[in-house]
Amino acid sequence: MTSRIPLIAGNWKMFKVRSEAADLVNAILPVVSRTDYCEVAVCPPFTALQTVYNLVKGTKLALGAQNCHFEDSGAFTGEVSPLMLKDLGCQYVIIGHSERRQKFGEMDELINKKLKALNKHQLKPILCVGETLEEREARRLNEVVERQVRGCLVDVPQEKMLTTVIAYEPVWAIGTGRNATPAQAEEMHIFIRDLLGKMYSKDVAEKVRIQYGGSVKPENIKELMAQPDIDGALVGGASLKPDQFIPLIQFKD
Ligand code: PGA
Repeated sequence: MTSRIPLIAGNWKMFKVRSEAADLVNAILPVVSRTDYCEVAVCPPFTALQTVYNLVKGTKLALGAQNCHFEDSGAFTGEVSPLMLKDLGCQYVIIGHSERRQKFGEMDELINKKLKALNKHQLKPILCVGETLEEREARRLNEVVERQVRGCLVDVPQEKMLTTVIAYEPVWAIGTGRNATPAQAEEMHIFIRDLLGKMYSKDVAEKVRIQYGGSVKPENIKELMAQPDIDGALVGGASLKPDQFIPLIQFKD
């Protein structure tokens, strides 16, 4: 029996001005308050973090950010530090999202620095990994995902691994409407868990939550969550509308 509490997290990407953010949070909060079989987090853009924090403070809805720098402060125009995110009441920070890897050139080494910076401030990283369609078709998916997991977790001690969430997000499934089948996702989740077992221990591997991300929607959430190694979802598009996100939170009802 697993003790892992599933985490359903909304990655709002570059959507929602403050008033829209408040409307969305107000719509989902009552449902989050009465759901006890999963944890729920929302990751608004930086500009809406304070607004959302004011609404979620003291509730069961956790706040997350979508990116961070690895230094606490400094001459890094346009960047936001983990210290600042902590100060805003964030608990989670997404790092290594494929959009950041592909569109902003982020590599495992940089993501590893960010992860360690989050650890320093007791912020929980949601570390995204996943292969492209080309890599899957060339049967290089295990190799690619292993390289990402190992590269992003260099020098991350066991106790910090326990507060890290991994999001397996096949790039070809993100925003495309084409999700990995529950079997394809489960296979990769087992692969990642086995890898954590080799890197840390079986005990650590059993405790780390591994979310699936990529076109998660009300129509496929139940089947995905029924897989023993899928411990939640990182949701983009469907996290932006209450009528889409609420059924994801209520995947067991
Ligand atoms: P999607 O995005 O749910 O819109 O596919 C997932 C993500 O980018 O985390």
